Amino acid sequence: MAGQLVDQVVFITGGARGQGRAHAEAVAEQGAHVVLFDRCSDSPATSYGLASRSDLEHTAKLVQAQGREALTLVGDVRDPEDVDRAVAAALDRFGRIDVLLANAGIYGGGAMHEVDRSVWDEVIDVNLGGVFQALRAVTPHMVERGYGRIVATASMLGRSAISDAVPYVASKWGVVGLIKAAALDLAPFGITVNAVAPGNIATPMVQNDAMYRLFRPDLDSPAWGDVESLFQQFHVQPVALLDPVEISSAVLFLIGPGSQHITGSVIDVNAGASAKFTA
Ligand SMILES: NC(=O)c1ccc[n+]([C@@H]2O[C@H](COP(=O)([O-])OP(=O)(O)OC[C@H]3O[C@@H](n4cnc5c(N)ncnc54)[C@H](O)[C@@H]3O)[C@@H](O)[C@H]2O)c1
Repeated sequence: MAGQLVDQVVFITGGARGQGRAHAEAVAEQGAHVVLFDRCSDSPATSYGLASRSDLEHTAKLVQAQGREALTLVGDVRDPEDVDRAVAAALDRFGRIDVLLANAGIYGGGAMHEVDRSVWDEVIDVNLGGVFQALRAVTPHMVERGYGRIVATASMLGRSAISDAVPYVASKWGVVGLIKAAALDLAPFGITVNAVAPGNIATPMVQNDAMYRLFRPDLDSPAWGDVESLFQQFHVQPVALLDPVEISSAVLFLIGPGSQHITGSVIDVNAGASAKFTA
């Protein structure tokens, strides 16, 4: 089999659907075996449903259809024991983990003066704490081998802010700080640590009725057509949503053979929103 990741092992958190699924397909196409770790249950902090076990199995089938192996593991990135168990199971099955994609995340918002404390706790625990747990569990193995590629998923909201989104914005800025600090520590061991910062991506996180209602509280049951122009305003290029494979392309670049000296970096894929950032 040809490809830039032949027989590498890629561990993906939040791998059941959305961007995690797109990454799984993209790395399998390049020859990798894939470990898919997902909570597969809903969260009280989100107004939309998370992935199901059938989503997870469907992603595994997409990987297997490319002749690659897929290991599915149900667990919560917030729980250190779940994450440790998953890493141990992956090492037991494949003998190594070459790449970690710390992608799992949830959207939970709220304005500073009225935000629900439990939403804050869960969003920070999943989006920042979960990235920490995944890196904590996988990096001793990578240090021992002297090789590793890690990409965490931040957001354009980890590079800028919007109103009514304190937990999410804070969690994603935290991811950027975490990958930079980790990149420093892991540089001597052949391990790179970077982030991707997506704009609006066409996944169930944004394509759901609750999100549409958030954007158009004046309408009883808003549909995509009622919010499209509002989503478009986050970007500069004339597009409201990007395809998840656009993020997979940035991930493939960061974990590929030509990127061994890119670490501590963030790649924005946001249809020009970066043009409005200060740096
Ligand atoms: N969709 C967007 O517009 C957008 C933009 C910027 C950043 N992001 C980020 O991209 C990443 C992927 O999100 P997506 O767009 O694919 O959304 P998604 O909701 O389709 O996928 C997120 C996945 O993470 C899983 N997950 C959530 N909490 C978990 C936990 N505690 N433990 C294990 N798995 C968990 C979900 O079950 C789901 O499969 C997230 O970190 C998200 O914050 C998304």
